Amino acid sequence: MRRVVWLLVAAVVPAVSVGLASQEATGLYPDKPWAFPSRIEKPFPEDEAPKTLPGSTRTYTMVQIDDLSNPPDWYPDQHPTPPQIVVKGHGGAMACGACHLMSGLGHPESSDLTGLTAEYIAQQMADFKSGARKDPTGKRMNGIAAETTDEEVRQAAEYFAALPRRTFQKVTEAEMVPRTVLRNGRMRYVADEGGTEPIGGRIITVPEDPARARLRDPYSGFVSYASRGSLARGKELVETGGGRTLMCTVCHGADLKGLGKVPRLAGMHPIYTVRQLSWFKDGTRNGVDAAQMKPVVEPLTDEDIVAISAYLGSLAP
Ligand code: HEC
Ligand code: HEC
Repeated sequence: MRRVVWLLVAAVVPAVSVGLASQEATGLYPDKPWAFPSRIEKPFPEDEAPKTLPGSTRTYTMVQIDDLSNPPDWYPDQHPTPPQIVVKGHGGAMACGACHLMSGLGHPESSDLTGLTAEYIAQQMADFKSGARKDPTGKRMNGIAAETTDEEVRQAAEYFAALPRRTFQKVTEAEMVPRTVLRNGRMRYVADEGGTEPIGGRIITVPEDPARARLRDPYSGFVSYASRGSLARGKELVETGGGRTLMCTVCHGADLKGLGKVPRLAGMHPIYTVRQLSWFKDGTRNGVDAAQMKPVVEPLTDEDIVAISAYLGSLAP
């Protein structure tokens, strides 16, 4: 009997530690599903009704709205004419406007592309293509970058870099938050059955208007909750380094609006920032310019990352 137990232990222990190590190396954090969305917990039921939005002349069905190679363009007169790759995908190169929206403001599980320079966007596409920067939760950008031509990247980068920035999300401090569930589009929605729970060390992001966000409405934004004290703590770390890290303003600019290949930080979706800081730290994000971020993230704790991300998200874009 004792021998059997030892055999079991010997078989299980190495498997467990290998499992943990590889989890970290792949950038997946199953213990943080609030920032690293993966398994959809509750898909929406099928819905065939035609959809409209206020002030738009267009009508789409849910199947059309979720067609990642031919996404809706609700307000074509409210942005410059997009290049083909932004509105129509081909093969694995899906249309940029599906996830980042035609407005470029994007959803929290993808990213906001406004306020970035074309140079920075092109560099990130090259890093996704080479695999030096990985997108492990959605496994989207590596495949897309691999199948997008240099000319398409150039055109998409120019398009997004020229779009205006505007407030699309806000951050509020709270101790109790609504219960949420991960649904289509890897977005978190307030649970139908209601209820609240303590926020703990998380950031909970939900759409301001769930029905409109689901339609990829470029005017329906997001709200994020963070625990009390996060914003003040984040502000101190960002502005002074808190005695532990480098001041972000040194490279990202006094107004945190970025310059050249250093991206803007103000007004970003906070859970996007949590993912990036975690990935610079664990090596998932290792692109050409990522080395500059390594000493910055090295001393940061999980709590620091949450506070910094909440604070940056609370700044005017
Ligand atoms: C199917 C959804 C999807 C489509 C289509 C898509 N993206 Fe993305 N994109 C994402 C996700 C998800 C991320 C965030 C990955 C992460 O969490 O780091 C992202 C991140 C990015 C980033 C990084 C932004 C930053 O601040 O560093 C760039 C640049 C980008 N995408 C460009 C594009 C371009 C250009 C296209 C069209 C050729 C495109 N994306 C199409 C989902 C998509
Ligand atoms: C030494 C210069 C430097 C300092 C200091 C610095 N950064 Fe960065 N940061 C960069 C560069 C360069 C990049 C682009 C990295 C890349 O292309 O992968 C970057 C990228 C980022 C990104 C990714 C943004 C996106 O759109 O994907 C975040 C988030 C970020 N920095 C946060 C911070 C925070 C928070 C601080 C302060 C605690 C900070 N940085 C301090 C140089 C710096």
